[in-house]
Amino acid sequence: MLLLRRCQSLTRFGPLNSQRHQVIPAATSCAARLWSSSSDDQRSHQHAHSPSWRHGLAGLLAGTGAVLAYVLHHHKAEQADTITVRTIEKTSSLPIFSQEEVKKHRSLEDGVWVTYKGSVYDITEFVSMHPGGDKILLAAGGALEPFWALYAVHNQEHVLEILSEYKVGELNAEDQKKQQAIKSTDPYSSDPERHPILRINNLKPFNAEPPPEILSDNYITPSAIFFKRNHLPVPQVDPASYQLHVEGLPGRALTLSLEDLKTRFPKHTVTATLQCAGNRRSEMNKVKQVKGLNWGIAAISNARWSGAKLRDVLLAAGYGPEVAQWARHVQFEGLDKDVTGTTYGASIPLNKAVSEEGDVLLAYEMNGEDIPADHGFPVRVVVPGIVGARNVKWLGKIIISAEESSSHWQQNDYKGFSPGTDWDTVDFKSAPAIQELPIQSAITTPADGAVVDRSEEEVTVKGYAWSGGGREVVRVDVSLDGGKTWQVAQLRSSEKGQAPEPSPPPGRAWAWKLWEVTAPLPAKAQELEIVCKAVDNSYNMQPDTVAPIWNLRGVLSNAWHRVKVKIREDESEE
Ligand code: MTE
Repeated sequence: MLLLRRCQSLTRFGPLNSQRHQVIPAATSCAARLWSSSSDDQRSHQHAHSPSWRHGLAGLLAGTGAVLAYVLHHHKAEQADTITVRTIEKTSSLPIFSQEEVKKHRSLEDGVWVTYKGSVYDITEFVSMHPGGDKILLAAGGALEPFWALYAVHNQEHVLEILSEYKVGELNAEDQKKQQAIKSTDPYSSDPERHPILRINNLKPFNAEPPPEILSDNYITPSAIFFKRNHLPVPQVDPASYQLHVEGLPGRALTLSLEDLKTRFPKHTVTATLQCAGNRRSEMNKVKQVKGLNWGIAAISNARWSGAKLRDVLLAAGYGPEVAQWARHVQFEGLDKDVTGTTYGASIPLNKAVSEEGDVLLAYEMNGEDIPADHGFPVRVVVPGIVGARNVKWLGKIIISAEESSSHWQQNDYKGFSPGTDWDTVDFKSAPAIQELPIQSAITTPADGAVVDRSEEEVTVKGYAWSGGGREVVRVDVSLDGGKTWQVAQLRSSEKGQAPEPSPPPGRAWAWKLWEVTAPLPAKAQELEIVCKAVDNSYNMQPDTVAPIWNLRGVLSNAWHRVKVKIREDESEE
């Protein structure tokens, strides 16, 4: 019913659409969809149509036309089986419009028109039905191509089919020619080459994780297989002209070149694990669908980062006790931008940034080499112990402020909610931005569904464990029988066969521990349910199941990790 009400409310835009031609009336088409949908479909529509969905959607994509592209895509995907989409073929009876006329339709009041491949579409009803954030209106009055190029979903047939419902005319020949001249370029064309072993969750923007069994082969994750999480195209930054701006202190702006950063400040090296807030989201999806990339267990990696301490740079910029009186946060802006020019941004608490023990780096090296393009060349912030999202790559600006970053990713994403909060009730302002992450561990080998031969007599289980905020992992418990009995795994904080790294000072355990346990195969068992759980030095432990920590964005997924393994009996014994 909610959907029906929303559809009917569209009639208030009715008079504004008087120029529309051959378009299915909103209420009719909505009602048709409502009645032809299953109850599950209705539920997901309620999410998709609710005002709060705006945040989630923008969170997923945060790009102007991308919002439209995604909603179109989503809308169709949900209804693919039940709805016959009415496609209006190009006909000569449709009116011809000039670009100037299209430009006049840039708001819900004047109608929202866009062009795509020479056709004109009135998407007013669509926009009001699918509030994808104010950003959707930025595509209004112009061509969709440059917006869609950013998210690469435009070329999917069903997206175009839905768009065709809203066609109202053709663009005149002269303006079509002009548009073709401004060819839309693929903003991802200069993205770097990636290792073929990576499991790609999304190609554009690029998001990928290594296969878990490879992940735990190295204590220091090789950069090529370090998980990659980009929200936007990788910016191309010329190291010779690169500038880092430090702002926020009245009358004392500081600009540093890469050379300045390398020569004016002592170089520090920190081994730190980065983990995406969405790591292990796929397990939440099994409980109930969440919105976000379907990360497995490998959106986490460990590297050796080198660079200047943020603290030293802030001091050089004039930070002092009087600034601490009013400043509370340090904001970061990346050089990666969406089509509207909005950069990726995030912030961390000032205390973390200026603390001697915080070890926050403006890193220009990863694993002893220049930071690779995907990981933030030439400079990224490394905020040890803090969620990946605040470790801003391609760093362009640092701002000392009384406020948190106003960035979408700080305000309307990367926050945790109750399992009872849904897209109709979520209020992003009500929850704090994720900073320190909770205790985490997962089994990297054997893989779920693997088969072990009885003749092997024992099974070796391996994995990683890490906790946020510099808390040290002190123990990992492993069970082969779903949690009835446990044994303690051996922890390792160095490459296999090498001497362990010196213990970190208390509160500064930034790097993960790899762990391993070899245990006899239990007699008679035909299947093992292997479980791991870690404990940190504050005695924080992982929750045993996913359901009580489920949240609509699928972040902070850290329940006991479980894999099932079959035991194959020897043929001679069968
Ligand atoms: N910084 C910029 N400028 N742009 C981004 O898209 N992604 C963030 C963070 N920093 C991002 C960024 C997120 S969500 C994560 S998890 C980490 O970078 C991932 O870092 P990685 O790609 O080096 O693994």
